[in-house]
Amino acid sequence: MMKPTTTTLCVSVLMSLALPVQAAGDPVAGKTKTSMCAGCHGIPGWRTAYPSVYSVPKLGGQHADYLVAALKGYQSGERSHPTMDAIVGSLSEQDIEDLAAYYASSYSGPAK
Ligand code: HEC
Repeated sequence: MMKPTTTTLCVSVLMSLALPVQAAGDPVAGKTKTSMCAGCHGIPGWRTAYPSVYSVPKLGGQHADYLVAALKGYQSGERSHPTMDAIVGSLSEQDIEDLAAYYASSYSGPAK
């Protein structure tokens, strides 16, 4: 019975190490999910890539909580915008947390 106990211990140690430092989202994971946002919420500089087509809010530097609330708002229908409504349909709760953590953390400098 040593092996299951050791495994359980290892898993819980790993899980506590993996706990995010600043927010529920993981900014590193979030960065990998921005490819579907970057065309509009342009990177770098946090401006739209197509100024003549869209007026797009800046995401970098906004509070993660605000970004999560905004994205969930589009999901719930509390907010409505044709583009964002379509985008958030494909996002999981974890995706939203990760993206919010990334955009919130990237303000002070170039992406790591
Ligand atoms: C096709 C263009 C487009 C894409 C792709 C897109 N967005 Fe948006 N996004 C917009 C526009 C336009 C708005 C402003 C909508 C409005 O006025 O309600 C917006 C609004 C937002 C807001 C609200 C910001 C605020 O200050 O209220 C958030 C958060 C957001 N987008 C996150 C994302 C994320 C995360 C992704 C990728 C998963 C993404 N968007 C992909 C165009 C886009």
